[in-house]
Amino acid sequence: MSSRAATGGYDPSGIDLDAWTELEEQLEATIPDYDRVNRLMTFGQDKRWRRNVRNHASQGMKILEVGCGPGSFAEDLVGLDVTCLDPSEEMLKVAKKRVDAARKGRGESPAAYVQAIAEEIPLEDNSFDMVFCLFSFRDFQDKKKGLEEIYRVLKPGGQLVMCDAGKANALHGLAGRIWMSTMVQWMARWVTKTKDHPWKGLARSYTHYGTNKYYRNMMVEVGFENVSGRLLYPLLMSSRFRGKKPM
Ligand SMILES: C[S@@+](CC[C@H](N)C(=O)[O-])C[C@H]1O[C@@H](n2cnc3c(N)ncnc32)[C@H](O)[C@@H]1O
Repeated sequence: MSSRAATGGYDPSGIDLDAWTELEEQLEATIPDYDRVNRLMTFGQDKRWRRNVRNHASQGMKILEVGCGPGSFAEDLVGLDVTCLDPSEEMLKVAKKRVDAARKGRGESPAAYVQAIAEEIPLEDNSFDMVFCLFSFRDFQDKKKGLEEIYRVLKPGGQLVMCDAGKANALHGLAGRIWMSTMVQWMARWVTKTKDHPWKGLARSYTHYGTNKYYRNMMVEVGFENVSGRLLYPLLMSSRFRGKKPM
């Protein structure tokens, strides 16, 4: 039996396959209401966090988004060569429709789409200027392996910018858990008009998620330099991590 059995298959370093498969089903079930619930549960801050991450890119860069979901972030990547990666066929189908429509409207060529997990990226070494990862790192099966793969596909001097639910320390984590298990549940129930909505299970991935320090250390172990990872103001609900692959 795995050492994660007591927590239903979760710990800060990753998620067992059975628990991850169930999590993926829950994530796919969020698609119709994904943006609305996100907007409500973050008081509209998710747009601001996405802009903060996006602003790290400069025109013409080759970008990989790992865990693109339904394309909520990738659709606004303007003037960039974009590859969207996600393990879910359903997520990629929605993302492709949405991202390519936005790109076409701007006179840009379609993005590339790859169905894969972060832990096994079927792309060349040293091939991206920047990797973005928004609200998907928390769902990786093996977080260190995912970071190693991201490091491998980054060009020397390339940067990883990640944003996910924030957890500064145990006390902050407790506040986050209370928020996720009360208000977020209530909002999801209100939006979806059903008691049995997928956000019920999603709170679990936050409960067993690690602190900023834990993941900063993991990034350093993988080889990233200039590593930072801190809560974003003003609501301190999410954290942004950055790290560079040495030249
Ligand atoms: C909450 S959505 C995030 C979507 C999007 N990035 C955004 O900004 O809203 C999380 C996504 O991570 C994907 N995911 C889960 N496990 C993953 C893994 N091991 N590697 C890559 N993506 C993963 C899920 O399929 C899902 O589409």
